[in-house]
Amino acid sequence: MSSNQGQLFSDSVMAQIKERFHFVDRDIDGRERLFFDNAGGSFRLKAASAAFANIDALPDCPERIHERALYLQDIQDRGEADVRHMLNARGGSVYFSLTASAAMFEMVRAVMEHVPGGNAVTTILEHPSSFDALSLYCERTGRALRVAPSNPETGGVDADAIIALIDEDTTLLSVMYASNISGAKLDIAAIVERARAKKPDLFIIVDAVQHAPHAVIDLQKTPVDGINFAPYKFFGCRGSGVSWLSQRLAELPHHRLQAKEKGVWELGSPAPAQFAVVSAILDYVAWVGAQFSDAEDRRERFVQGMQRIESHERALLTLMLDGVGTQRGLRAMNGVQVYWDHDDLAQRDLIVGIGFDGLEPTAAVREYEQRGVIVYERIGASLYSGRMLRSFNLEGAVRISPLHCHSPDDIARFLAVTEEVAAIR
Ligand SMILES: Cc1ncc(COP(=O)(O)O)c(C=O)c1O
Repeated sequence: MSSNQGQLFSDSVMAQIKERFHFVDRDIDGRERLFFDNAGGSFRLKAASAAFANIDALPDCPERIHERALYLQDIQDRGEADVRHMLNARGGSVYFSLTASAAMFEMVRAVMEHVPGGNAVTTILEHPSSFDALSLYCERTGRALRVAPSNPETGGVDADAIIALIDEDTTLLSVMYASNISGAKLDIAAIVERARAKKPDLFIIVDAVQHAPHAVIDLQKTPVDGINFAPYKFFGCRGSGVSWLSQRLAELPHHRLQAKEKGVWELGSPAPAQFAVVSAILDYVAWVGAQFSDAEDRRERFVQGMQRIESHERALLTLMLDGVGTQRGLRAMNGVQVYWDHDDLAQRDLIVGIGFDGLEPTAAVREYEQRGVIVYERIGASLYSGRMLRSFNLEGAVRISPLHCHSPDDIARFLAVTEEVAAIR
């Protein structure tokens, strides 16, 4: 396969990867199950769940002087350093919140309430956590909300469409790294560079919740002011959102205890277990990297691991679209439409949206479940999908989101089930 089509893990690495996660091949009741809804919450690393349970079992407050408290402080320091390794972030602040959405509202609020300007720019594909935050604070602060349209061919938003909306008077650009509906990546590097060419001190906040588990993020190459991800979609646990803020964003007025340093965004007691989860994620990705590289540096091993994960996922995407051995792929199936089928797979995360002739997405999702496959219906009536689907002139879609823990055999089984579902009409 060419690099554009990705490269699969060897059988032995694949087996070791599956072994490191809970419930990849079977559900908790022991029944075989293909879980292809990882964009809604990913497979859990066994090490992440164990780290959470072990650390959270300790009653100690980290803000004490005794030995166990110092141990918890070390866990937090290591977790914070690991967030920086993941993003290649220098300086600024790391912020653990309850959800990614909560942090997004806080970051948007700080910029909108304290940075001058007459408009704010975003895209029609944003998750409600950023879209609604920006529209709320545009309304409250009397700014114009400018929304870049989607491109129904690629499933993304063209950089040109975003850049056209930015001017000297723009307060904030809030943009996602990749769409959780279509899987299309936005060209964040070009968007950041071109936006700052128009307004050098523009504040930029990026929602990386969808994209972070699928590829390398490098803030030294794409310097933004705020970025967030969600550990539960990144092989970790539910119950936290993780953000990094540039120093100038972190120091804007925000809710904080007055005695704390200016750049601290955590309110109240952080949970050391959540920091341990992030370190377990990084340990795992670095382990993947170490199967292919002898790099010593933790960031470099993480980068190698994410690149391999991305490459395996691209190979799975190729198989899903074009078939596995004699099993035909989605593109060739009767009665199945593949949406946003952009040819350049390097521009897509491992998400596919499809529709069936004569079968509503919700009915299709039920048929899949009866056959042991979990996928997700995105429908126009949903607050999480409606605005985005309307922008593509679609009423609904079935979203398929496997993970790098899946093998070509899993994809073949999924495709065989899809042919059965397509034959139901
Ligand atoms: C792209 C994107 N951004 C933000 C979020 C919000 O994450 P959370 O529910 O953890 O706040 C989600 C969750 O679905 C998402 O997919």
